Amino acid sequence: MQERRVVRADAPARSELEAQGWVMIARSWGAGLALDEQRRERLRHLVDRAHPLVSVREVTASDAEAVLALDRETAHDYPGDIATAHEALTTAGATPTATHRGWGAFTAEGLLVAMTFADTGPDVTETDFTVVRRGWRRLGLGSAVKAAGVLALADEGRTVFRTGGSFDNPASIAANRSLGYELDEEWLTYAPGSRPAR
Ligand SMILES: CC(C)(COP(=O)(O)OP(=O)(O)OC[C@H]1O[C@@H](n2cnc3c(N)ncnc32)[C@H](O)[C@@H]1OP(=O)(O)O)[C@@H](O)C(=O)NCCC(=O)NCCS
Repeated sequence: MQERRVVRADAPARSELEAQGWVMIARSWGAGLALDEQRRERLRHLVDRAHPLVSVREVTASDAEAVLALDRETAHDYPGDIATAHEALTTAGATPTATHRGWGAFTAEGLLVAMTFADTGPDVTETDFTVVRRGWRRLGLGSAVKAAGVLALADEGRTVFRTGGSFDNPASIAANRSLGYELDEEWLTYAPGSRPAR
């Protein structure tokens, strides 16, 4: 693959790259969530309204096969370039751990139709990815699983939640806005430009 550089939009490296002829090929964003009681109430509403269509719960190791299957089906659904790319999960990646936690929405028949995974660092909890099965989108399920994860992790004492995505992904921007995430970072992806022949 062609070389890429990802820099913050306000970093001096940006003008240096542009001066060297690098070309911006993708824009992405980072966002944070301020959690107060009113926000928690909103998140509870997002989870509650997904019932009875689905039930939302934390993903366990016994869901790994279902997580892998949904991941395979949706592998090509993530817009953007390397800054927002989603790597296909392995069995290990599909199995939650103490620092890689997942929440899912399951139909009455037990089919996994939406999932989100988050990485919990010492201070910051960062969304890894969120995805909804095709045919089940725009039903509130992406926001429901993400809201369930934030609420559960906040109950464990986590206070700093971050997420990010591509500016070419209106669904992801809208779903995160709906939870209350506020965009506060912009990142640019550059590729080497083709220089004019001498
Ligand atoms: C992004 C994604 C997870 C959203 O899940 P979803 O279940 O369809 O979203 P929801 O139904 O919860 O919608 C949440 C909000 O986003 C809006 N929205 C959803 N899809 C939208 C779209 N394509 N365009 C504009 N707005 C959209 C909804 O109207 C809703 O807004 P509201 O709260 O103001 O009513 C889903 O589109 C998806 O799986 N995309 C492919 C994978 C991906 O790109 N993941 C994100 C990067 S990790």
